[in-house]
Amino acid sequence: MKIAVLPGDGIGTEIVAEAIKVLDALDLPFEMESALVGGTAFEAHGHPLPESTLKLAKEADAILFGAVGDWKYDKLDRPLRPEQAILGLRKNLGLFANFRPAICYEQLVGASSLKPELIAGLDILIIRELTGDIYFGQPRGRRVAADGHFPGAEEAFDTMRYSKPEIERIAHVAFQAARKRSKRVTSVDKANVLETFQFWKDVMTEVGQQYPDVALDHMYVDNAAMQLVKAPKAFDVIVTGNMFGDILSDEASMLTGSIGMLPSASLNAKNQGLYEPSHGSAPDIAGKGVANPLATILSAAMMLRFSLNQEAAAQRIETAVQSVLGQGLRTPDIFSAGTTKVGTAEMGDAVVKALG
Ligand code: NAD
Ligand code: IPM
Ligand code: MN
Repeated sequence: MKIAVLPGDGIGTEIVAEAIKVLDALDLPFEMESALVGGTAFEAHGHPLPESTLKLAKEADAILFGAVGDWKYDKLDRPLRPEQAILGLRKNLGLFANFRPAICYEQLVGASSLKPELIAGLDILIIRELTGDIYFGQPRGRRVAADGHFPGAEEAFDTMRYSKPEIERIAHVAFQAARKRSKRVTSVDKANVLETFQFWKDVMTEVGQQYPDVALDHMYVDNAAMQLVKAPKAFDVIVTGNMFGDILSDEASMLTGSIGMLPSASLNAKNQGLYEPSHGSAPDIAGKGVANPLATILSAAMMLRFSLNQEAAAQRIETAVQSVLGQGLRTPDIFSAGTTKVGTAEMGDAVVKALG
């Protein structure tokens, strides 16, 4: 089981270190190799995704990723910015299916910003298409406007686009995931305005006919954003495009108590996967030893389940995380009166201990 370990920038190194502790404690035959990615790779090699890092990732059975990015790189040319590393990995490895499960553990019901009754027992799965949409659509750039409201003015543009096979394959992923859950899929779009998302909706409906046992409904993204904080438990599987999925998954993270709790898996057609927390490099708290490592530790559990065929070990980690929360240990992002505040490393140590 070859794991490429790419900690990245900011809190990336701190949280990945804790996930590695947990993986080491499982005593399974992992071969782990680390490489630089993001801003740290740019500093060392002049590129956020060096060839050697990409090669390591391609040859691994799974990739454990921390986070990339820092404000200090915001002035670099776009191809050199840290975020291009994660986008490049997703594109180069064809990691089109992004699973972001928003589960509110009972111990954290009080940590959410919503009323307990709205989120107790919450378990929804956001499936985000990850290699298409306005993120990757060409053309894009800056130019002098030839038309529009201000012809002759400087303007910038991106292209939102989806091909039929791209929508079909993420639709199949969503319907198949729903079959293992409560057999309901909500496809989130903006078909009332955007051609791309009318097409998305049409293709979802067409693929849905192959899954008569799964109920499909459609919702506009603005309404979905509202419903997520009004009645989140009404959802089960949400499938949506790259950009809407980015935004809705950060919103959903607060339902679980904190952005520091939301893991993710990004899979390709060969079930090779990249596993990373849904959050970023959190430059505001980097280096302070206070970041919540649980999203990364739970991402490692998803890695064991999806790419390494180690379901029992995955469950051991998830149980250990719940046990630590049950002991009242909390990093500052989920801390509340009556619980015990701990740092990143103490949280990781506690999970290792709880593995038994
Ligand atoms: P962010 O997710 O890094 O941080 C948002 C807020 O959440 C911050 O206040 C941060 O302190 C907090 N936070 C995030 N993770 C936390 C954790 N584990 N524990 C406790 N608090 C946590 O988003 P941002 O501030 O918008 O972006 C910072 C940088 O990260 C940017 O350069 C951005 O591009 C990058 N980013 C990278 C990824 C990735 O690598 N996949 C994802 C998102 C953002
Ligand atoms: C995420 C991040 C990335 C995205 C950025 C850093 C490119 O926000 O993984 O959610 O927008 O996909
Ligand atoms: Mn995001």
